[in-house]
Amino acid sequence: MRLSERPLIARAEIDECVRRLAREIAARYQDGGGLVLVVVLKGATIFAADLMRCLDVHPLRVEYIRAKSYDGTDSVGEVELIVLPDLSVAGQRVLVVEDILDTGRTTTAILSALEDAKPASLELCTLLDKVSRRVIPVNAKYVGFSIDDHFVVGYGLDYREEYRSLPEIYVLEPSSA
Ligand code: IMP
Ligand code: MG
Repeated sequence: MRLSERPLIARAEIDECVRRLAREIAARYQDGGGLVLVVVLKGATIFAADLMRCLDVHPLRVEYIRAKSYDGTDSVGEVELIVLPDLSVAGQRVLVVEDILDTGRTTTAILSALEDAKPASLELCTLLDKVSRRVIPVNAKYVGFSIDDHFVVGYGLDYREEYRSLPEIYVLEPSSA
């Protein structure tokens, strides 16, 4: 596997997208009623760090949830969730922050676990959406970019834990391509 020569999504596009999403989210939650961001580890950390610094919503709480479903570039189908014991969202407005929606399995598992905790509302924001790969229907209220069926890395996204620190988003291509 090797990285595409140019980024699929460059720095300036990412920055503009993050500002747009922050505006959309603020328009919904700016009434002083507060918001809990539930950031999905590990992939969404860099996106969420940028997003929350643009987000004019108060009071804002940030929590984390860990989800694991991928082995290399293939979804293994089963989702492992790790929820910290102090994650309390009952009666709170919750926005899940994801790096990428692919088959929809991970996000479905996260949303149903959070729904069980009886939040006042539950919405989803994803930086990337691979619509054509969906197996379980999931709709994100806030979507950064809809992308074709590429395996992408960088800006938090990994391939076997590598490439998360790249500042832009690249396509990982088979070496023979
Ligand atoms: P899903 O459960 O199939 O929707 O997969 C979602 C998870 O798989 C994401 O949170 C990512 O961690 C990972 N994933 C899916 N597609 C990609 C990709 O193109 N690059 C890196 N990780 C991906
Ligand atoms: Mg991953």
